[in-house]
Amino acid sequence: MKIRNATGEEMRSLWDRLDMEIPEPTTDFFYENISSGNADFWTIDDDGELIGELYAFYDLPDSDFADGKTTAYLCAFRVRKGYRGKGLGSLLMTQVLEDLRNKGLKRVTIGVGPDEPQNVRLYRRFGFMTKIKDCHYDPCGMDENGDPEYEEDPWWLLSKEL
Ligand SMILES: CC(C)(COP(=O)(O)OP(=O)(O)OC[C@H]1O[C@@H](n2cnc3c(N)ncnc32)[C@H](O)[C@@H]1OP(=O)(O)O)[C@@H](O)C(=O)NCCC(=O)NCCS
Repeated sequence: MKIRNATGEEMRSLWDRLDMEIPEPTTDFFYENISSGNADFWTIDDDGELIGELYAFYDLPDSDFADGKTTAYLCAFRVRKGYRGKGLGSLLMTQVLEDLRNKGLKRVTIGVGPDEPQNVRLYRRFGFMTKIKDCHYDPCGMDENGDPEYEEDPWWLLSKEL
């Protein structure tokens, strides 16, 4: 089991096998940003099987999320079912935070639903203590038309100093 950076191609093949439908424009957005260097993808590699993922975006149109200088936005944090609750997500998050600190980033942001108490607790444990704002749009989540996906129920954008 090792944590490493992965490519846009690996993201595409991982998402093809997910049991959730991700709109093609979202996949394209992630792929283009990883390819251009505006995003990084970290994975948990279990003997060639990718069982975890976490992405950082460096520059986004809404600078509350990522401002191209000091603040990066973390998203699509997932560990494959059957592997959850064993500390793997925490290992992945720890490595990503350390890598971002080493890159010179000063702050990271992450989104979470107030109706996801387990995730809120996990992020608080990692030090995401500041709530920046309520959000209805994820700047990295596109609908079938390629527009940022609107979510009726607001979710929180949290931040942590590195
Ligand atoms: C969130 C997630 C990536 C954490 O990875 P993980 O390997 O389960 O995390 P760890 O084992 O290191 O930590 C467990 C913590 O994760 C949280 N958690 C959230 N969903 C969980 C689940 N389905 N199973 C177990 N833990 C979960 C809990 O807060 C738990 O902490 P606790 O011990 O205080 O209850 C993973 O559970 C997951 O993929 N969940 C579904 C996708 C998701 O909700 N992503 C976050 C979007 S905001």
